[in-house]
Amino acid sequence: MTVSNHPNPARTWAETLSSPLRTAFQHPWVEGIVRLGAVEDTLRAVHPMLSITEARARVVRIVDETADTRTFVLQPNALWQGRRSARAGQFVKLRLEIDGRRVERIYSLSSRPGARLLAITVKLQAGGLVSKYLHEQVKVGDVLTLSQPDGDFVLPDPLPAKILLLSAGSGITPVMAMLRDLRARRYAGDVVFLHVCRNPDALIFAKDLRAIEEEFAELSLLVHFDDTDGPFTTESLQYAVPDLAERSTWMCGPGGFMDRVHRHWHASALKAPLHSERFVAIPMLPTSAPGTPVTVMLATSGKHFVTQGNDPLLIQAEKAGLTPKHGCRIGICRSCQCTKQSGTVENLQTGEISDRPNEAIRLCISVARSDLSLDL
Ligand SMILES: Cc1cc2nc3c(=O)[nH]c(=O)nc-3n(C[C@H](O)[C@H](O)[C@H](O)COP(=O)(O)OP(=O)(O)OC[C@H]3O[C@@H](n4cnc5c(N)ncnc54)[C@H](O)[C@@H]3O)c2cc1C
Ligand code: FES
Repeated sequence: MTVSNHPNPARTWAETLSSPLRTAFQHPWVEGIVRLGAVEDTLRAVHPMLSITEARARVVRIVDETADTRTFVLQPNALWQGRRSARAGQFVKLRLEIDGRRVERIYSLSSRPGARLLAITVKLQAGGLVSKYLHEQVKVGDVLTLSQPDGDFVLPDPLPAKILLLSAGSGITPVMAMLRDLRARRYAGDVVFLHVCRNPDALIFAKDLRAIEEEFAELSLLVHFDDTDGPFTTESLQYAVPDLAERSTWMCGPGGFMDRVHRHWHASALKAPLHSERFVAIPMLPTSAPGTPVTVMLATSGKHFVTQGNDPLLIQAEKAGLTPKHGCRIGICRSCQCTKQSGTVENLQTGEISDRPNEAIRLCISVARSDLSLDL
């Protein structure tokens, strides 16, 4: 009712423009977009949770997990499909406006999939824009805009017989969702949850971990405190989990911690699958991508664009007016992954140049080195 009774601000506004601009704004497509924006603005004014396009969620509770880490418990609107579709380990992208600038950051869901409320758990980063905003400005009752859940750092179905959930610092968030999921699914296998942090004061989810441990007989909960147990090494890991070679492992933590575990896995030729997720990008390498224009064919949509220079394909495609699916934009989440059917690309994180047909590439960290055909 409120929407249809509202005067049409797009027309009034367009009528004030000079003639060529007015013609452009009266194009049916542009008019449609402007009207949609007006509808969204009106709905937001009526109630901040109302939208016909955006998933939004109200902050219903804020939990201080440690001195620098807070959980935001969120009640989503009907457009958030994650209650049915989310899988443990996935993330959402938050979109916020801070000082007039639109910014996006990714946060793992720390809540159990299927739960009525969702939760993200955010560590305050020194000098960090969004984590500082969330910690200092966001309060109960505020409404946040978020994406649908995404990411392939997830537990499989069916579950393996032996699982290790391994984390350090704020990397505990996605594996906590996995632990909650295992308990909810009454996992009857054998799960070790090993977390590394400085000391008991830095243990995120301390209370919940104790509660889960009490009622989940299949769980061995191990916590390594660096301050008293000494620095965590791969020897500590092997000692704490002697049957490491038999455990399908999901790991999340700081880069150095994960690099050490990956090297150990490789050096010991462990056959059990090791899945990992990073919160911070691997630095990009300088590239000498060709200065000549190359054509990128999008085989599925039949579109194409011409690109030149060193920007990743994701940015090049966006500059060409396309909107490829993406998440982190830093090579972590694989949301932008597609199949390169033919052509040569350079990986900006490893420097690898590859002309293999039908290989998976990530648009946000790949630069074109020749004409390409992509399965998009
Ligand atoms: C898949 C994925 C899942 C994530 N899940 C979570 C989560 O559950 N909880 C959470 O707190 N964060 C998570 N992050 C990190 C989050 O997206 C932001 O990067 C983080 O909150 C910092 O944002 P900021 O705007 O405060 O800092 P920015 O202003 O973007 O950066 C400030 C500085 O902090 C550094 N920095 C950013 N993140 C980290 C980090 N984790 N450790 C060390 N330095 C860092 C940046 O490199 C930069 O130097 C996740 C990231 C990804 C890619
Ligand atoms: S957008 Fe996340 S890997 Fe490319």
